Amino acid sequence: MEGFGPGKVILLGEHAVVYGFPALAGPLSIGVRAVGERLPPGRAASLNMPRGLRGRSRALLAEAFGAAVRESGAGGVRVRLESDLPTGMGLGSSAAVSVACARVLLKAARLDSEAAASEPAAKDVARVAWEMERVFHGTPSGLDHSCSAMGELIHFRRRPSQKVPSVTPVSSPKPLNVLVWLLGERPSTKETVAALRARQMAWPERYGRIFREIGRLADEGRRAVEAGELAWLGDLMNMNHGLLSGLGLSSAAIDEAVHRLRAAGALGAKLTGSGGDGGAVIGLFEDPGPVAKKLGRQGVDCFVSQLAGPTLRGRV
Ligand code: MEV
Repeated sequence: MEGFGPGKVILLGEHAVVYGFPALAGPLSIGVRAVGERLPPGRAASLNMPRGLRGRSRALLAEAFGAAVRESGAGGVRVRLESDLPTGMGLGSSAAVSVACARVLLKAARLDSEAAASEPAAKDVARVAWEMERVFHGTPSGLDHSCSAMGELIHFRRRPSQKVPSVTPVSSPKPLNVLVWLLGERPSTKETVAALRARQMAWPERYGRIFREIGRLADEGRRAVEAGELAWLGDLMNMNHGLLSGLGLSSAAIDEAVHRLRAAGALGAKLTGSGGDGGAVIGLFEDPGPVAKKLGRQGVDCFVSQLAGPTLRGRV
């Protein structure tokens, strides 16, 4: 039994999404694969811990996996993880782990082997993965694991009063290609979200205005994607980066990468994920391949991925 959880990039709307505003996110071609092996009857589900994972991270993964086992009702299965997704870069690695585990556990919960081979519904995957994400992050918006479970570009919104978010697939008539630039370690999402929360609580009206505007950019971005207007989408991304910077979520290294991508011809460039310092920056290009090659020769750690478009089949 296998389950794949793709990583994700947020095109528009990170952080504001935590306060109930819309966001737009798409799946990466890379992610986490969970491989499950059935155990004899009577044995409990277990996870082989990734080598090198220690301390608090190890304890959190064990706790999160336990929560998913309870939610899925899975019996005896031993799960191991394989990943080609960089961790701690804002590319949704914990959500990808959660979705990959959820898929395998839901398959393992089915009794006959034919049922275990078919893919569980995205909404069930998201429900089980959510239990893991809550252990990893406390109070995440749910954007990351929803995008990974759907395996396609989504418009996401969870209003404060809503338990269940509204998640809508967004189709693009054109290939939506991004270059992902990996800057390196960044503070944890939990820390960055908490620091922003402290500033928002001190000045709720002013921060609220910015969050609202970011949400409007995400709504507009959905229309730009559906219309195949990449220059429009790029402009929205540039503006979103400016607002994230205003919220104190950028750094000199992030801004330098953003400006180098724009100088290299990006239609738009911004930080993606929780930001703070380090993490990842994305640039929107019609064809990012040559730029990625050139940056690679200059020592930049980067890769390209298609997030949506007519030639792209679902990631999962
Ligand atoms: C992290 O990938 C995105 C944030 O908006 C946090 C969240 O949505 O829970 C920063």
